[in-house]
Amino acid sequence: MPRCLLVTNRLPLTFDENSNEFIPSAGGLISSLKGLNSKQVGFDFEWIAPTTQIYPYESGLPGHPVLIPKDIYQSYYNGFCNKVLWPLFHYERSTIAQDISGWENYKKVNSIIADEIIKKANFDDTVWIHDFHFFLIPELLKQKRPDLKVGFFLHIPFPSSEIFRELPQRKEILNSLIQCDLIGFHDLSYLNHFKRSVSRILGEECPVVYKRNWGVYPISIDTDHFIELAERDLTRQYLCSFQKTKKEMKWILGVDRLDHIKGLLQKLYTFESFLRKYPEQIGNVQLIQIVVPSRSDIFEYQTLKQEVEQLVSRINGEFGTPGKMPVHYIFNHICSAELSALYQISEVMHIASSRDGMNLVGLEYVASQNCNHPGTLLLSEFTGAHSTLSYAISINPWNIDETAEKIHDALSRPIEIRQHEMQEMKSFLMNYTSSHWAKLFLDDLNEFTSNKRLSQVPNEENFFPWMSELKNKKILLFCDFDGTLAPLHPTPAKVSLLEETKKVLSDITMNKKIDFVVVSGRDQNFLQDLFTKNNYHFSLAACHGAYSYLPDSQEWEHLIPHDSTNWKENIIEVFKLYTTRTPGSFYEDKGYAIAWHFRNSPEEFADFVANKLFVELEEALSSIPAQVTRGKKIIEVKSLHACKGHFVQHYLERREYLPEVVIAIGDDTSDEDMFEYLQNNASVKTFCIKVGEEKTNAKYSLKDQSKVDSLLLNILMNS
Ligand code: UDP
Ligand code: G6P
Repeated sequence: MPRCLLVTNRLPLTFDENSNEFIPSAGGLISSLKGLNSKQVGFDFEWIAPTTQIYPYESGLPGHPVLIPKDIYQSYYNGFCNKVLWPLFHYERSTIAQDISGWENYKKVNSIIADEIIKKANFDDTVWIHDFHFFLIPELLKQKRPDLKVGFFLHIPFPSSEIFRELPQRKEILNSLIQCDLIGFHDLSYLNHFKRSVSRILGEECPVVYKRNWGVYPISIDTDHFIELAERDLTRQYLCSFQKTKKEMKWILGVDRLDHIKGLLQKLYTFESFLRKYPEQIGNVQLIQIVVPSRSDIFEYQTLKQEVEQLVSRINGEFGTPGKMPVHYIFNHICSAELSALYQISEVMHIASSRDGMNLVGLEYVASQNCNHPGTLLLSEFTGAHSTLSYAISINPWNIDETAEKIHDALSRPIEIRQHEMQEMKSFLMNYTSSHWAKLFLDDLNEFTSNKRLSQVPNEENFFPWMSELKNKKILLFCDFDGTLAPLHPTPAKVSLLEETKKVLSDITMNKKIDFVVVSGRDQNFLQDLFTKNNYHFSLAACHGAYSYLPDSQEWEHLIPHDSTNWKENIIEVFKLYTTRTPGSFYEDKGYAIAWHFRNSPEEFADFVANKLFVELEEALSSIPAQVTRGKKIIEVKSLHACKGHFVQHYLERREYLPEVVIAIGDDTSDEDMFEYLQNNASVKTFCIKVGEEKTNAKYSLKDQSKVDSLLLNILMNS
């Protein structure tokens, strides 16, 4: 079976400083991963995680605890993970502390763990990195071990780009994450926030924007385990003893780590409001609130504990009667059997998180229910679980009054409705477990990596395997200009050839076996100035092939009908309008095409306007022989006749000799016509190469424009 290394910040046991012993680790991440079934997922799992204490052998853990000096770990874990990343990613900015040593130690721990992975990982192992503790590992791995398949899953929300961009280390984090072969999130909104952050912070051209190697994979639980746990003897014993204490009372259950994100204070205020609104319930309903100790070295967590406890006392002081306290508060871990019994016996489960990546407690509650007499789940709409548990009663925990009423409704919900809702949610969880989740992610990761390998993205030393087929052949090479021969520039008029490119082009000019044709959207003057004046004897195609220039004739030939641009005036008016309302944008008249550029405009606004313009143009052009295309920060309307595909067809038909190999290179959407025509029609060997990682008709691709010189050089050397 293939091996997958699970990289997590916690192993199933964690050293507890207070009791000086190893105790079961808290948190949903560990709960879910512990339940992975190797056979079902199709992988053997091994863990790699940092630890500050020698890990007990008897844990039976198939993995590698990596010893980290205590002071470094504390600063990484408390200083950066929990004081910076955690609050920021949960929209709790007021608690963010910026501590340089925290970041330095975060980098250190990431690098120590990455080194350990590099040592342990065999060729073809899959490395699956979990959560915000290890944002920097993907890049560290890919630098040293590009052979490894690297997946990353974020267990917490990815915040809106408005929040994320406040993080000083935003670039380092994104630059590392985008190295992954697959990045997974619990919820579509988190993925959308991530994509937006990438394009805002790293730019639209960032490869991940085109690679689309991301996905939404809501985590689940080991459902069978919870069903089986519910039936165990120990669980039944707990159930019996709870029955005796509970009697006719109704229980509302809360199970949360002590954390700001869990909305503990809102939950208590809501319960208080419920008792005030429905005084007849005093003495009949009790809130059983389990609070699991967490991150107790951090001041903000200590303060939260005090606040929670004060509020509990206040409510009990006001509404309690001898022997009947409305809030039963437990600040401790509880064992799984006790938890299962509580899930089963409570009429309502109340989850009030203000933000929560997923919240597994909600799923566990559902899995533990007996569907003949089930309870009701009140679930915050700010949890990832909200998308999975669609039959739960949805609450906005900030709306105290409304939620208090929903508690009342939940307590009196008719049995048939509860049965139906619970049945639906439970059957979903029986079919979608944590092992399914892992399988979906790992299968996709595998698919992404194999596709990538197949697409033969070349490295510098070893270009495409077909290079050897060029020897002594007559080559016809069509090459686009902007973004292919020359790098893109915010001002199109300022684009010029780089010195290295000029050298390669001079060599190509001298090589009689290569017929080099520049096929560009630029107009005749621009191309002629640039190429013929620099003594490159190339054929030129201007305005996407509307004009053709052969070096022997030294004249431009007009290839398409004169009335091909009757539509232009109207479109220019539209472009003018959009240019006026979009700062930094401008339009360019290219003869048979008009382009609207918005590379220099405020990004979000310009994208919005461009979408609108695009739709408007598509409608307006439906009965006109012109076509609208969207390129990189550009919208272009061009005559249907002016098409690179038509041009290459014309050029091939007119040649006196037949080339033995045709190569086409281009980065733009307008080059796709050329690729398509050549690959489907040319009667000789054809190699089409897309520059960039966007979707393409071409069979081959280059990572970006900077690789074009070496591609041309390779063609030259191999010809
Ligand atoms: N849990 C636990 N010990 C307890 C109470 C709960 O380990 O005393 C488990 C619970 O079963 C669940 C996890 O802790 O699997 C909490 O996960 P969740 O996703 O709800 O929240 P997180 O703590 O990860 O933020
Ligand atoms: C969340 C995080 C986990 C973390 C857990 C418990 O679920 O996503 O990565 O393990 O909380 O927090 P702790 O800091 O105790 O590990």
